[in-house]
Amino acid sequence: MPLVPMRILLDHAAENGYGLAAFNVNNMEQIQAIMMAAQKTDSPVIVQASRGARKYSNDAYLRHLMLAAVELNPKIPIAMHQDHGNSPETCMSAIKQGFTSVMMDGSLDESGKVPMDYAYNVAVTRKVVEAAHAVGVTVEGEIGALGGIEDGHGAGLDEEEVKLHLTNPDDAERFVADTGVDALAVAIGTSHGAYKFKRKPTGEVLKMDLIEEIHRRLPNTHLVMHGSSSVPEELLNVIRMHGGFIPETYGVPVKEIQRGIKHGVRKVNIDTDNRLAMTGAIRRAFDADPNEFDPRKYLGPAREAMAAVCEERMIAFGQAGNAGKIKVKTCRQMVAFYRRQSSKAARRKKR
Ligand code: G3H
Ligand code: 13P
Ligand code: ZN
Repeated sequence: MPLVPMRILLDHAAENGYGLAAFNVNNMEQIQAIMMAAQKTDSPVIVQASRGARKYSNDAYLRHLMLAAVELNPKIPIAMHQDHGNSPETCMSAIKQGFTSVMMDGSLDESGKVPMDYAYNVAVTRKVVEAAHAVGVTVEGEIGALGGIEDGHGAGLDEEEVKLHLTNPDDAERFVADTGVDALAVAIGTSHGAYKFKRKPTGEVLKMDLIEEIHRRLPNTHLVMHGSSSVPEELLNVIRMHGGFIPETYGVPVKEIQRGIKHGVRKVNIDTDNRLAMTGAIRRAFDADPNEFDPRKYLGPAREAMAAVCEERMIAFGQAGNAGKIKVKTCRQMVAFYRRQSSKAARRKKR
């Protein structure tokens, strides 16, 4: 089957009460790791690439690697998503490259550093929704801003500043009506990267109750949790035991993500945990044999370590066992769906 629109995966997850991990990729081993885990657990897949990832890997390599994943896994529905598109142009170029889903992150300006106002966010997001839905591609928007910086992306908000940029449920409701996004990323106190919380997070800093409130107001919108790596102590310790330095830090506990999934979270973004797993495995391999210089001897274990994290999350979020159950639609088939949806919305407005 070809790459599928992300919307059909999110809809199936909502109908059946589970969540989908969305894993970031930059190279072949990471794509292979996700597919190994998906095959083992019969999981539908969301692969996502940031702007940095597209630049690092080159769109053509990425496109062909994804086509290889599709070819080798004909029974697994796979969606390819642009993570944190910074402008309509970035989203359009992703669509041109065959991505079946795009995120227009209008919560920040084009540089990806400065939080922007509601009007700007609606304007750029609506523009992307119009163009993407016309070709059946899914759109994720974001309201509120996350903390941290990854590869130059992010406002660099710390744990305290993040509290000032949490998603306002009134804005979330208006934003979905004003833009028509398929999925909405919300800011609930998480940050990108490994340094999310200085202590185990309580409800004071990780606002799961905000998710519950937003879901009450928007029961039909698929919610997205960014910055959702759990930063497990075991993975940190492998790095520390083999010459790496990572100070004390905490992520988002899997239990809290599961609580989110009970309240409308359908997409859970994970990059850092896989980075930690791969780095630990590579450090361990170098430590075990300082004479080794065959990349397969350290990239192989890195791929295994990432696959183990992916498998754990796929099982914990409930997506395991669902790949074969999804009735696949193509982007082309989604065009008619979006047409019907927008004429319904126009009729509602008239009344
Ligand atoms: O958005 C954050 C993801 O972890 C991607 O990170 O921009 O360094 O590829 P990146
Ligand atoms: P982590 O840094 O917590 O893995 O989050 C990744 C993410 O949100 C990508 O958009
Ligand atoms: Zn993110």
